[in-house]
Amino acid sequence: MSFAAAPPLSGTVRVPGDKSISHRALMLSALAVGTSRITGLLEGEDVLATAAAMRAMGAVIARSPEGLWTVNGVGVGGLLQPEAALDMGNSGTSTRLLMGLVASHPVTATFTGDASLTRRPMARVIDPLMQMGADITAAPGGRLPLMVRGACPAVPIRYRLPVASAQVKSALLLAGLNTPGITHVEEPVPTRDHSERMLKGFGADLTVEVENGVRHIRLHGEAELSPQTIEVPGDPSSAAFPVVAALIVPGSSIRVENVGINPTRSGLYEVLRMMGADLAFADQRVVGGEPVADIVVRHSALTGIEVPPEIAPAMIDEYPVLAIAAAMAAGRTVMRGIEELRVKESDRIAAMVAGLRAIGVAVEELPDGMIVEGRGGDPLPGGATIASLLDHRIAMSFAVAGLASRAPVTIDDMSPVATSFPDFVTLLDRLGAGQGR
Ligand code: S3P
Repeated sequence: MSFAAAPPLSGTVRVPGDKSISHRALMLSALAVGTSRITGLLEGEDVLATAAAMRAMGAVIARSPEGLWTVNGVGVGGLLQPEAALDMGNSGTSTRLLMGLVASHPVTATFTGDASLTRRPMARVIDPLMQMGADITAAPGGRLPLMVRGACPAVPIRYRLPVASAQVKSALLLAGLNTPGITHVEEPVPTRDHSERMLKGFGADLTVEVENGVRHIRLHGEAELSPQTIEVPGDPSSAAFPVVAALIVPGSSIRVENVGINPTRSGLYEVLRMMGADLAFADQRVVGGEPVADIVVRHSALTGIEVPPEIAPAMIDEYPVLAIAAAMAAGRTVMRGIEELRVKESDRIAAMVAGLRAIGVAVEELPDGMIVEGRGGDPLPGGATIASLLDHRIAMSFAVAGLASRAPVTIDDMSPVATSFPDFVTLLDRLGAGQGR
């Protein structure tokens, strides 16, 4: 599919539900006793993989024609033995969080996934879950396919996160739910805190204390969770694509409604403002324990900056699209301290460097990041085909680049977009982007 220079983008749109919150909403609802109700759930492939796994382990999950999801949970400790392997598709979040859940239940589960997921490192969850007593056998290098035999009872541990990872933190907290005693996770670098917020919302006994800059999260197990009604806000990581599109297509002015702006997720928006973006959070409110706003953004002349590496965990999924904004900025943008990008759905540093070069942007690859030479607002040359590498965010980033390019940018395979943002192209078209195609 090709994306070509767009006329000014305008209009008001909503992006799909937050992927991180959607996974957690299904998992915690499946562990509560009774019926939870979820609206705004992301109906993308990753979240549907989580739903299928929770069904396979006993939860009863239904969707009304209006999009209301109801989940009848089995209770903490009540997960059933799945009859077949759990196919996680492309979803690292499903895999790592569910490994945590299974680790403290008397069940054995096999996890499989696609070619991208099979390459991703799982040792970061295997190691601490084995310390809790789970028995895990994985393919060489700690990869999928792998089998988790849960420990019952599991042993509570105190664990300092060696990588800044919300997935590892969440896997341990989920394992802690059915573990007697206190599971204690130390987080030297804060990561997204949706699990902590939602666990408290479901009634778990969880405390967070900050000592000398380290977050100490303590969860009392054998928790009892009570069913909830959850409204999932729009995903700030998905909103990033129309927002950057509006910033780089001259004359644009758009509003993206109902977007989560949790400070552990909103780093991109801070960085764009530092680059000179005309971008505001309007009508700020709290929905279901999460801060939410409408993002109002206009085309802006951007300036390259050194992105502070400490902001990385709050925008870890947004570097690909930031690199597109950087390509349109005046001067260079330096992104460092993001070696984690090499183990996402693709090696996102390598993918962005190769793709930017292919569309005529000068970029230097660093072991832990990249330096993009901005074109000062001049259109990008474009005129290349980009391999999306089973990575939704690579596909969407270069689609956005196409909207500000002289010659169209072709994405070889847009199907990965269905993991997190099934209506991405329709939404761009609603803003007017399709007129150039
Ligand atoms: C996620 C955490 C992040 C992020 C991923 C979703 C989550 O991964 O990249 O898209 O929902 O917890 P890491 O925990 O590996 O940084």
